[in-house]
Amino acid sequence: YTAEIDASDIEKGTYAHYMLKEMDEQPAVIRNIIQHYQNENGEIELTEGVRELVSEADRIYIVACGTSYNAGLVGKDILERIAGIPTEVHVSSEFGYNMPLLSERPLFVFLSQSGETADSRAVLVEVKKRGYKALTMTNVPGSTLSREANETMLLHAGPEIAVASTKAYTAQIAVLAILAYDIARATGKELPFDLMPELARVATIMDSIMAQKELFEDLAERYLKTTSNTFFIGRGLDASVCLEGALKVKEISYIQAEGYPGGELKHGSIALIEGGTPVIALISQPKTNLNIRGNVKEVVARGANACIISMQGVEHENDDFILPHVEPLLAPLINVLPVQLMAYYAALARGCDVDKPRNLAKSVTVE
Ligand code: G6P
Repeated sequence: YTAEIDASDIEKGTYAHYMLKEMDEQPAVIRNIIQHYQNENGEIELTEGVRELVSEADRIYIVACGTSYNAGLVGKDILERIAGIPTEVHVSSEFGYNMPLLSERPLFVFLSQSGETADSRAVLVEVKKRGYKALTMTNVPGSTLSREANETMLLHAGPEIAVASTKAYTAQIAVLAILAYDIARATGKELPFDLMPELARVATIMDSIMAQKELFEDLAERYLKTTSNTFFIGRGLDASVCLEGALKVKEISYIQAEGYPGGELKHGSIALIEGGTPVIALISQPKTNLNIRGNVKEVVARGANACIISMQGVEHENDDFILPHVEPLLAPLINVLPVQLMAYYAALARGCDVDKPRNLAKSVTVE
């Protein structure tokens, strides 16, 4: 089984970096996913194999590393809120030591862009030995994790070459949402909104954000260019995106970055805030708006340089950027773009090798 790769997919073309190209591809990836996972009536269509696997499960255990783990955190919320199925997210390399208490009918979902990550594979081997079922979500057909799991859902994101993962993150969230909606449909759950049209809208909004890149270049210059540390803060789903924002900034701009739930700051980390510390706040969830703005005030009172990226639909003030509105549950697909872009432009401004950051590998095949 070989992956189908179009030569144009693995060339940079006019792009300065693969990372920039791959960020730009995100709207097309979402459209590609919609196309692959819906039938001619516009309904979500998964394979019988996948449907059978999830219908037998009473709990989902997502297992992943790095950016895929961060996508899993968003997926957990979507699966629990839409499909009503309890979902846990685990770091692959920790799973062996802290094997969670398993439910009667667990389903393991391996999230992996490459499908080759050794830490994740080790868990898959163990899970299979115990007779449990596994579903792999990966970008690479025929990859090890895909071959060894019972079923595969592909990300359809096209080859991802930059070490810092971007389009695989948004693809994973979209595919997890599709899975959640399919489970919800099969179990007769009430659906808060129509997923596929909303994903199509997400793609259009992604286009509009990518058309305004220079704004995020300015924000990166202003907040990240010269700093040695930074915080990303948010609450609820935004807190998960903050983890991904911090990871991107660490990976490619070598800035010490923490993604933090806003409410947790006061329990320790706020001690690190001093004059000029950049704090980037993501505010897309109406129900967390007031509290996270309270956290921003707390850090500003201690001298932080706060950058607020919010979304229409939450009451905003003088925010640095206000994203177009999408369903709050899908907001991570949109508000991750500014943080990816800011990480990218910060790395450029700091003279870092964006596509090949030091000490990192695209696919880690050792445990
Ligand atoms: C490496 C990469 C990360 C990636 C992680 C998991 O550490 O540098 O960008 O998120 O592996 O990779 P996977 O292919 O399993 O998603």
